Amino acid sequence: MSEPHCDGDICSLGAPAADEQTFPDVRKEFPIFANHPEITFFDNASTSQKPASVIQTITDFYTHSCANAGRASYSLSTKAAQEIEQTRNRIARFLNADSSEIVFTSGSTESLNMVAQCWGLANLKSGDEVMVCFEDHKSTVLPWLNLKDLLARFGVSIKIVPVNIHAEGDYELKSIREQLTARTRLLAITHVHHLYGLDMEVKAIRAIVGENVLISLDASQSVGHRPVDVKDLTVDFLSFSGHKMFAANGVGVLWVATKLHGQLIQHKPGGSTPGQLTNDSFTLANRSLPALLEAGTQNIPAILSLKSAVELIERVGINRIEKHVSELTHRLYDGLKLLPGIEFSPGFGRCGCHTITGYGILSFRFEQTATSDLAFLLDSEKVLVRTGDHCLTNRQQGDDYVRVSLHIYNTEAEIDRLLAVLTANLA
Ligand SMILES: Cc1ncc(COP(=O)(O)O)c(C=O)c1O
Repeated sequence: MSEPHCDGDICSLGAPAADEQTFPDVRKEFPIFANHPEITFFDNASTSQKPASVIQTITDFYTHSCANAGRASYSLSTKAAQEIEQTRNRIARFLNADSSEIVFTSGSTESLNMVAQCWGLANLKSGDEVMVCFEDHKSTVLPWLNLKDLLARFGVSIKIVPVNIHAEGDYELKSIREQLTARTRLLAITHVHHLYGLDMEVKAIRAIVGENVLISLDASQSVGHRPVDVKDLTVDFLSFSGHKMFAANGVGVLWVATKLHGQLIQHKPGGSTPGQLTNDSFTLANRSLPALLEAGTQNIPAILSLKSAVELIERVGINRIEKHVSELTHRLYDGLKLLPGIEFSPGFGRCGCHTITGYGILSFRFEQTATSDLAFLLDSEKVLVRTGDHCLTNRQQGDDYVRVSLHIYNTEAEIDRLLAVLTANLA
């Protein structure tokens, strides 16, 4: 690897230390584990389990407060609108953003598509270039390939420039540096990789591309796992899903830096889009967020559940969550590497610098056992992991790994259980 992944910054947590004391209490807040003590849930990169506070928020909305938000003058409607704005403020504080920069969406996939549709469609011209990495999640990459096809129908030809990835699983910064041109307008990249589990070095990438190239960051796997501060990251767009950070399904966030608001076009004009009809044209009254991007009735209880999820994360402490998950990742790696026939995917298991923070994602397979067989075996032992195509954009035939992904309620005992099951079943 020409550029060592492990820089001073990410090594600063040092060697893992035991910190099991407080996390069993957090686990008790997730009813699924009391209802199903037999399961070991290791598919958190796909979705997280829900704490009682999030479930209560959703139930409360439907049983006590159900009304559309801001559509009427009666108090239940006003209350819903106020609670949405309180949630927006809370999310803004959580990300070190302004609340006018927070847009509620249906999830990461919609947020990432909105960057292409609401910014790209309006601003890209023939000859402009967008960098993506085909080793990223389809939701990070496909919105730009789709936009390229869409623009081509109108005679606008943009270029998609692929960023390389090292065999160790991090972006090859050299390929960004060497392919950067005066026509590079935007990079669509990932904060923590969903299969490789590495910090993808956003700040180093910003230093390479300078201030004038926009960065759309997919933070689906980092929000709720590590501090995410939009000012510190110096990106322009940031997307994530609620359901991966303990909130409900069907809600997500798109953060857009204020300086870009004037460059956006509407997403799905409708109900609350502000403006005036003149003959057969509709003139927007303004381009203020969130109204420009949030028309239509929203998933109100899911939005409100974001606030409950952030309250839990902040009560436990995001730094402590990061440390706990990192310690579990190291324990898992230390056990897995001793197993016969193991082959790690690119990422944490292969990058050769195991003092780095682990973000709870480790992917691997075994020479002697098909990954699909292993998935059945683990399921029969109630250990729930992910296999299959992992939504990788450039998935190669046979490129199948078991992915174990962890979160705050996972324990050392669960890691040891997985290792014991594998040890007993691998010849
Ligand atoms: C890195 C990454 N980006 C985007 C997504 C898409 O998220 P959603 O399906 O919630 O829209 C995922 C989900 O697995 C992901 O891991």
